[in-house]
Amino acid sequence: MADEGSIARMVREELRGVRLDYVINNAGVSSTAKRIGEVTMAELQRVFAVNAFGPMAVTRAVLDNLRGGERKVVVQITSQLGSIGNNTGGSSYAYRASKAALNQMNRSLANELAAEGFTCLAVHPGWVRTDMGGAEAPLSAEESARDVLRLMVKATPGMNGAFVNHLGERIAW
Ligand SMILES: NC(=O)c1ccc[n+]([C@@H]2O[C@H](COP(=O)([O-])OP(=O)(O)OC[C@H]3O[C@@H](n4cnc5c(N)ncnc54)[C@H](OP(=O)(O)O)[C@@H]3O)[C@@H](O)[C@H]2O)c1
Repeated sequence: MADEGSIARMVREELRGVRLDYVINNAGVSSTAKRIGEVTMAELQRVFAVNAFGPMAVTRAVLDNLRGGERKVVVQITSQLGSIGNNTGGSSYAYRASKAALNQMNRSLANELAAEGFTCLAVHPGWVRTDMGGAEAPLSAEESARDVLRLMVKATPGMNGAFVNHLGERIAW
C-alpha cells in the first residue's frame, strides 16, 4: 500500500484486462504515538502512506478495471476517528488525520467520477476484534465484513461520496 511500484506491478501482473465491479481498500495501520510530544514527521508519513496515500494510489491504478466493470463501486475502509466534527477526545494525531485525509480524497474522487456512474464510499467498519481493534471490540471480523459487503452490494450512485458506518448510517465529517 505504501509502494507505488508494488501497486503498479499488481495491476500489470494480476489485473491486465480484468473488469472489476468492486474495490475495497482495507489495509491500514494505527500508531502508538498518541500525544503531541511523540508525533514525529516520520511517524506521520508512515501512517499517511498506508492509510491515505495508498488507497488513492490503488484506486488510481485500478480505475480502468473499474470503468470496465458494471458496478463501479469503491470502498475506502476509514474510521469514525477520522471525523473532525466528532473529535472530542484529541490524541491519535496520525491515525485521525490520515483517515480524515482519506475521507476528503474519497469525496473528491466521488465528485470527479460521478458522471461515469461511480459510487465511492468511505466506510467505518465498526469497532472490530482484530489486532488493531483488540479483544474488547463488540464485532467479530466476520460480522463487520458481512455488514460492509451488504452495504457495498446495495450501494447506489445516490450514496456517492458518503461517509457512513458499516450499517450505512451517516457519520459527521
Ligand atoms: N479494528 C477496528 O476496530 C477498526 C475500527 C475502525 C477502522 N478500522 C480500519 O479497518 C481496516 C482494517 O483494520 P484491522 O482492524 O483489520 O487492522 P489490523 O488487524 O491491524 O490489520 C491490518 C491489515 O492491514 C494490512 N496492512 C498494513 N500495512 C500494509 C501495507 N503497507 N501494505 C499492505 N497491507 C498492509 C495488514 O497486513 P499484514 O498482516 O500483512 O501486515 C493487515 O492485513 C483499517 O483500515 C483500519 O484503520 C478498524
